[in-house]
Parts: sequence; structure tokens; C-alpha cells
Amino acid sequence: MKRPLTPFPTTGYFGPTYFCDRENELDQLIRNCSGGNSTTLIALRRLGKTALIRHLFHHVNKDFVTIYLDILATESLGDLLNKLSSAIAGIWTERSAPGQKAWKMIRSLRPVISYDALSGAPIVSVKSTPEESKKTIAELLAFLEKQQRPVLVAIDEFQQILEYPEEHTDAWLRSLVQNLGNVNFIFSGSQQHIMRELFTDPGRPFYRSTQFLKIGKIDPEIYANFIAGHFRRRSRPVDDQVIKDILKWADGHTYYVQLLCNRIFLSKSRKITPSVWKEEASRILKEQEFVFFGYREMLTKNQWSLLKAVASEGPVYHPTNATFISTHALGSSASVLRSLDALLRMELVYKEQDEKGKSYYGVYDILFSRWISGIRSV
Ligand SMILES: Nc1ncnc2c1ncn2[C@@H]1O[C@H](COP(=O)(O)OP(=O)(O)OP(=O)(O)O)[C@@H](O)[C@H]1O
Ligand SMILES: [Mg+2]
Repeated sequence: MKRPLTPFPTTGYFGPTYFCDRENELDQLIRNCSGGNSTTLIALRRLGKTALIRHLFHHVNKDFVTIYLDILATESLGDLLNKLSSAIAGIWTERSAPGQKAWKMIRSLRPVISYDALSGAPIVSVKSTPEESKKTIAELLAFLEKQQRPVLVAIDEFQQILEYPEEHTDAWLRSLVQNLGNVNFIFSGSQQHIMRELFTDPGRPFYRSTQFLKIGKIDPEIYANFIAGHFRRRSRPVDDQVIKDILKWADGHTYYVQLLCNRIFLSKSRKITPSVWKEEASRILKEQEFVFFGYREMLTKNQWSLLKAVASEGPVYHPTNATFISTHALGSSASVLRSLDALLRMELVYKEQDEKGKSYYGVYDILFSRWISGIRSV
């Protein structure tokens, strides 16, 4: 496996050395797939769903054929077919015995086959009708079902299937999936309310067909040890308090922790002092400023005020609370609710439940929160 440029990668998966914890989550995933159960994996954006799937695959790829499909950019069943075909074509060459069968199905649709410039992986592209796509996806899944080794298919950003123009895609897929014994699935997604609805609403085809796994933030103590270990192993001394402050600034949110540590690592200073991390943090915010001003351009005045209010207050349990509204001059509670709805839809604000089951709102972009706490007048 390739080595990352720093011990704190912000994209991709580079093996267990650069992956912190998730031991319990990994255990549960292994138990699920070993027991023939599919899993629904949900978490807020950028907490580490995709990396966890990669981590799982790293651990089970001797026992399972592992297939990863990121369907965020797909817009139809035809696109889904292309993803699945490409993944299968990347595992079995056309000359291998199993490959011959799979490639025959793919070739029957007269595909254009190209190769990824970096990885060399095949990219299959067919133009098929929805009926042809359905038929071939079913055939390819039947092909996987017949493999000697069990197969694990992870469909990342699964909620995207609801955007396909073909109707009842989830019902159709469920009817295929439920007949498979040798193929298990991980359905992963970050739009938690949609994922929940898909899998917990009795009226939906996937209702209770999987085990749920919701991932949260990594335990701060474990993350602190992981960070300290990587710095100290490279003779970069860092005090425990500095690591605590870094984790606090990044709110323990995996991507932001990784980003800040990545930048600190790249700084020339050998010792990681408070001024070193703070300088890197403010540089990150400066670079992101145009994104934040972009939010302001995109939003109505009320939405912008509410976004700033949620960002500066941290978790907000009662957005229509009178003090909250008056402190931030948010107008009427009806307009707050309208703006909140819009911000949720735009994925700028999320709704979560705490350990006691109480709902609260927070902003997705922790960098924005830190920026807004520093500059109040925008
Ligand atoms: N356990 C971990 N240890 C170290 N780094 C991690 C860990 N989990 C995730 N990361 C890193 O955090 C970043 C975000 O993770 P990832 O892309 O897996 O999140 P995600 O939940 O799939 O996000 P999205 O919802 O945007 O798809 C990545 O850079 C990844 O390398
Ligand atoms: Mg992801």
C-alpha cells in the first residue's frame, strides 16, 4: 500500500497505521458480514464512513471478494450498471475463468472500455435502456452469487438511488438483494434522515432488512494518543495540552482533525507549540474565506443570520427559543423554522440526537464555526 505524504491523510485510505481506532465498529461490521447480514452505515458527513469501509475491506479481503461502489455521481440505473460493471471488470480479467462470464454479459451491451490514467482500472461505459440496465445488473449480481468466495458489496452514498428517474428503484433492488445468500451489502450514506427513512419506515422496501451501524466521533483520548504517536515517532515533540486544544478546535470531527494535523505536520517547526497550531488553524480559515462568503451570497438574509447564530452558539437545542432569537435578531419563530428547513436541505446545518435522545442543530462546517466565532461583523 502507498504511503501518504503525511501521517494525517485527508483523502483516501493508507492502511491501519494511518487509521485511528474504530475497533468496535470494525468488529461489528466483520460480525455482520461473517454472519451473512447486510449493514446500513450512517454518520454525519466527513466522520469517516468511506474510510471505515476501506478499513473493513483491508481486513476481510482474503475471505471476501470486496466491491466498492460510490454512487454519489450516478444519476440513473445505467450509471449504476456502469459502476458495477467497472468494479467487476477490475476484479476479474477477461481471460480468467469467472471473468469470461462476467465480461460476456458486459460485452453484450457494446461497452466503451477505457482505463483510469492513474490506477489503470477499467472503466466500463454502456448506453443501455433502463430495462437493459435492470436485466444486466440482475445478471451480474447472479454472477456474484455463484462465486466461491462470499462477496461484500459496499454502496456508498446509497441515498442517491432515490434521485434516479426510474421509479421504485429501491423496491426493485430490494427484490434482487433479498434473494442473494452469497452476497452481502453495506449501504452507506450521510443524509441520515433519508437513510433512516429508507431502512426504518415500514412502508419502504428495505424496512428492517439490515443491521444499523451509526458512527460517531472517535474517542478523544484514543485520537490524542494516535496523534501524539505520529508526531513523536518523527521526533516532533508535542504537549498533551496542545493535542487537546487541536481536538477541541476541530470539535473531534475526523476530517477537520486530520486537516489541521496534516497542516501542522507540514509546517517547518520541529516542536509543535501552541503558536504553531494556531497559525496553521488561522491559515486554513483564511483559505476558506471565499467559501464562507459564498454561503452569504447564496443565502437569504434570514438564512445567513440563522447560520451564523447556530455556528457561533454550538449545538442549538431550541432554535425558536426567545432568547436565542432576540440575541441574534432572527425575527419571528416562523421565519426561523423556514430558514432552518432551507439550511437543512442545503446541508449547511444538520440535526442530530445526543446520548439522551434530545435533538439539536449544528453547522456541518466546523471551519465556518471557528471563522464566525472570530469575526462577528459579517
Ligand atoms: N479512523 C480514522 N483515522 C484517521 N483518519 C480518518 C479516519 N476516518 C476517516 N479519516 C479521514 O477523515 C476524512 C474523512 O473521512 P471519510 O471521507 O471516510 O468520511 P465520510 O464520512 O465518508 O465523508 P462523506 O460523508 O463526505 O463521504 C478522510 O480524509 C479520511 O482519510
Ligand atoms: Mg464518504
